[in-house]
Amino acid sequence: MSVSYLFEPLTLLHGPAMRNRFMLAPLTNQQSELDGRASEFDLEWFRQLSQGGYGLLTTCASHVEAGGIAFARQLGIFDDAQLPGLTEIARLIREGGGLSAVQLHHAGHRAAPVLGGIPSPASDRTLPGVKALTTQEVERIRDSFIAAAKRAEKAGFDGVALHGAFGWILLEFMSPLLNDRTDKYGGSLENRARLTIEIMEGIRAACGPDFQIGWRLSVERYGLVLEELREIAATIFDRELIDYLDLALWDTTQVVQEGVFAGRKMLSLFTEIARKGVRLGVAGKIWTAQHAAEILDEGADFVIVGRPAILERDYPLRVQADPFHKSPGLPTTGEYLRQGGLSERFIRHLRGWDYFFVPGSV
Ligand SMILES: Cc1cc2nc3c(=O)[nH]c(=O)nc-3n(C[C@H](O)[C@H](O)[C@H](O)COP(=O)(O)O)c2cc1C
Repeated sequence: MSVSYLFEPLTLLHGPAMRNRFMLAPLTNQQSELDGRASEFDLEWFRQLSQGGYGLLTTCASHVEAGGIAFARQLGIFDDAQLPGLTEIARLIREGGGLSAVQLHHAGHRAAPVLGGIPSPASDRTLPGVKALTTQEVERIRDSFIAAAKRAEKAGFDGVALHGAFGWILLEFMSPLLNDRTDKYGGSLENRARLTIEIMEGIRAACGPDFQIGWRLSVERYGLVLEELREIAATIFDRELIDYLDLALWDTTQVVQEGVFAGRKMLSLFTEIARKGVRLGVAGKIWTAQHAAEILDEGADFVIVGRPAILERDYPLRVQADPFHKSPGLPTTGEYLRQGGLSERFIRHLRGWDYFFVPGSV
């Protein structure tokens, strides 16, 4: 497909359509206030991005309970005191013409005690001396996700995106390695997927008919079984429980290395599942306009960009202006990012990613 197809609108099952096929990936940047309220730096970041031409913009991972925190200065959505900042982010995005979503997150067993986090494993085996969540505690966390979605709706967001990737709580429950529970949230695949599905159903019931639900899924590590993830995705698609799946690959060209699907492209394993009205987007190293267009040829409905958006906040506009546009790529320098408008807090966060910067650069 030609690059111009990326700029065709995309309808969703609920609410307004995306104006084009670019979604901003959730990007943790550790620039919020210490109590999870959006800071002036969060607002400035979205002021820039909102003018960048994205069809849909997601916030960074935002914790749904104070005890679910993973990062210092993480954005929060667990308290009404966080509403004014969230409302301003939603307003900025709307003003720029994109759809908006808050990424809902709970760190599960990786919640950070030094930040007030309460490690909350699915299993007694995961952390020495830490008991697995009780059934009632799992239900409380489920309800916190739903309450956070209502808060996002109140703040004026078009929807939420559930963080079901990278070993955080929803994926932790999905994993047969990390979840050996014997209650209704463990054991069979249906039980391990129950927390995710009850959250989807609960949000659908609690929020208005136009409210959009996204689901981010990663497919590697943490003892995950690819066949199982495909089965869960198929069920969720078939029941149209969500508006879109965000397939979080680190590289969209990834080929499966082992198991029954060895040699197949990871993306194809999900694009080939019948998805009714649910849309499918994929993230991972979409550094060029041509690659973005190819992803649609491979059967995805939209593309998701993270690092290219850090380097160029207006990446979609640049692609639109030049079908051969290429991101400057990594490594980069602090000076380049600073000139582009990133805060010192955000740049400090990026220093934690060892490949991000030219060695010795400032
Ligand atoms: C600085 C940084 C922060 C990230 N924060 C989050 C996050 O909060 N939630 C999430 O689901 N993924 C997060 N990711 C992963 C990205 O959303 C994205 O999936 C990944 O970077 C691959 O896409 P890309 O190649 O376009 O960057 C982060 C990635 C980076 C580089």
